[in-house]
Amino acid sequence: MPNIVVVGSQWGDEGKGKVTDLLAPHVDAVVRYQGGNNAGHTVVVGREKFVLHSIPSGILHPGLRCVIGCGVVVDPAALIEEMEALVRRGIVLDGNLYVSRNAHLIMPYHRALDLASEAKLGDRRIGTTGKGVGPAYVDKAARVGIRMADLLDEPVFREKLAANLRQKNRLLSEIYDAQTFTVEEILGPYLRYAGWLAPYITDTELLLNRWINAGRSVLFEGAQGTMLDIDHGTYPYITSSSTTAGGAATGTGVPPTKIHGVLGVSKAYATRVGGGPFPTELQGKMAELLRARGNEYGATTGRPRRCGWFDTVVGRYAVRVNGLDTIALTKLDVLDKCETVKIGVGYRYRGELLTEFPQEERVWNEAEPVWEEMSGWQTSTAGLRDYADLPTKARQYLDRLAELVGMEFCLVSTGAVRDDTILLADSPLTRWFPSLRGSIPPR
Ligand code: GDP
Ligand code: IMO
Ligand code: MG
Repeated sequence: MPNIVVVGSQWGDEGKGKVTDLLAPHVDAVVRYQGGNNAGHTVVVGREKFVLHSIPSGILHPGLRCVIGCGVVVDPAALIEEMEALVRRGIVLDGNLYVSRNAHLIMPYHRALDLASEAKLGDRRIGTTGKGVGPAYVDKAARVGIRMADLLDEPVFREKLAANLRQKNRLLSEIYDAQTFTVEEILGPYLRYAGWLAPYITDTELLLNRWINAGRSVLFEGAQGTMLDIDHGTYPYITSSSTTAGGAATGTGVPPTKIHGVLGVSKAYATRVGGGPFPTELQGKMAELLRARGNEYGATTGRPRRCGWFDTVVGRYAVRVNGLDTIALTKLDVLDKCETVKIGVGYRYRGELLTEFPQEERVWNEAEPVWEEMSGWQTSTAGLRDYADLPTKARQYLDRLAELVGMEFCLVSTGAVRDDTILLADSPLTRWFPSLRGSIPPR
């Protein structure tokens, strides 16, 4: 049974939640490998909408095992809130949710440091989600982080917390002029969280490998996207984890040799939340139209997303750094009313044509996109489930994107609802998951 990574190929919010939920019935487990509750993954089932932050998007499928891997950073209060909200809606977590004992904790001082450092950066701020994700990864790399297993061992937790606070309080008060914390005010709530979460915390690295060795199939659900990767993204305007496919191995303890393929998820256009380069970004009316039609507001922070045209330089880059086997293209329907659609095919920088994504901030700031323009289809594709029903011009747009990116699409999504999806007949996706064929009911 194949173990496949689902990874965002742009700046996040590509529709990973929808794709993960769609594939979930065809696998035995779904695991998150990086990021934290900075993620917002939306799944729409009938009239019901769920937004998952730390919990894998497979959780809506009864009996499916969902794992928060060691590469994830977990805010226990936020996780418990998310769990309680799901339980209230009838989702069963016991026996289905597993949290790695090696996952690092997001602490209250991480959130405070995230907000304080953003405030200090002023115009150069990253535009983080303010969830404390970056500072939690700083502590992980600095080897002073506190892990899930520590939370279950009160003396160890207390000692690590006290040692951290001695340093963090000085940082908060002396560098950032911000509020400080006492050991007791954190210890009380965190010990309560420990009691709540204890039944879920386990050696997920061992479990995942056991399941795989027993022939089960695991889906790795990425958060954020390729261009937000700590190494491969638009540094420093990135998130602090390995969002690309390589992170799936280190963030779960499943070796790369047991991962069989990588599925990229791309929108039919592009969005970005927060600061940093976005060469094909649009301003004005067209940006507003995409934002309104695509409902492009952050699933975690509610911020309006920056909107632009599809960038095939980014697309090719994502194919390369993730080793994509195929791509799921989402939100085609959002472009339905466009008279023309543009595609970014390169950048012009000081008279030179760039066809690879530049790494220097100086180049981002000056580079102008080079466009190809196609006429729009101006027919509704919303809810279509059969490729043959797509208007010719929409098919031409898809063909041109695939040609420029250098990769075929395996799936085209035409609506937020689970089944509003066109599956292409023969693709790596249907070869990995033959049971997908015929699984989407006709309209
Ligand atoms: P993720 O973070 O990659 O999971 O993506 P988000 O959930 O943050 O953002 C994607 C948004 O687009 C969500 O509101 C989805 O419900 C919605 N969506 C996903 N696929 C489609 C689609 O094909 N068409 C439309 N109109 N909406 C979609
Ligand atoms: P999903 O999984 C889009 C962005 C933030 C900011 C940068 C750093 O839903 O695709 P952080 O809080 O991570 O330190 O912020 O990363 N960002 C996202 N943008 N989708 C996300 O997640 C994001 N998670 C973080 O806006 O620019
Ligand atoms: Mg999102």
